[in-house]
Amino acid sequence: MNSKEFFNLCAQEYDSVYYSAENTENKDIAQHLTNIIEQNKVESIIEFGCGNGYWLLLSASIGVQRILGIDQSVAMLSVAKSKLINYPFVEVLESDITQQMQFESLFDMAIISFVLSVIESCRLDCVIDNVSKSLRRNGLLFMVENKQPSLSANDVCKLTICEHWGGAKYDVTYHLYSCTFLCHKLEEYGFRIIEPIDINSDIYCLVAQKK
Ligand SMILES: C[S@@+](CC[C@H](N)C(=O)[O-])C[C@H]1O[C@@H](n2cnc3c(N)ncnc32)[C@H](O)[C@@H]1O
Repeated sequence: MNSKEFFNLCAQEYDSVYYSAENTENKDIAQHLTNIIEQNKVESIIEFGCGNGYWLLLSASIGVQRILGIDQSVAMLSVAKSKLINYPFVEVLESDITQQMQFESLFDMAIISFVLSVIESCRLDCVIDNVSKSLRRNGLLFMVENKQPSLSANDVCKLTICEHWGGAKYDVTYHLYSCTFLCHKLEEYGFRIIEPIDINSDIYCLVAQKK
């Protein structure tokens, strides 16, 4: 099963697994993201791999006026659209972010959350290039990622986990990039790192600015 089919399959269950009330790390991430949006008066946001629209909804609810979410999964986008019914100005687009993209107008902020870990390392450059190209000069990037296991000191390590979705078991392989590696990669694509933010033992955020 490819990644698109996999995310189509988990779309309906995704919120109850990752965005239930017990997942307090989402509240921490939301607080950091909200502060950055408000302090920098962010008016437009593009999200790469927006999934079920959790961060799109947050951005719309705090007053961001132009929002575009991109995802390859029609089923995830359909969940996102149903949540965003009261925010008709939020646009969603079905597209593959590992292919070269063109942007007619540029954004103040790009979000990419729990997406790089599902991207093969051979496609990573193209994704980061797209993210960089979507931003205006001094535009901000807010990235959320899984940390590598503490023993790993590699640029990228693969982790295969047996997950249960829709009553069946699937072996899912994640590509966990080290924070140092991602910082260097972002610098290569014209970003200045502002700060890494530690959320908990598994998750961190990176804030960067396009030069
Ligand atoms: C783990 S989910 C994260 C969803 C959301 N960003 C979040 O934080 O809840 C990864 C998302 O990335 C999307 N994705 C993975 N590869 C993609 C690709 N090549 N192009 C577009 N979207 C992709 C998946 O369809 C899925 O919705």
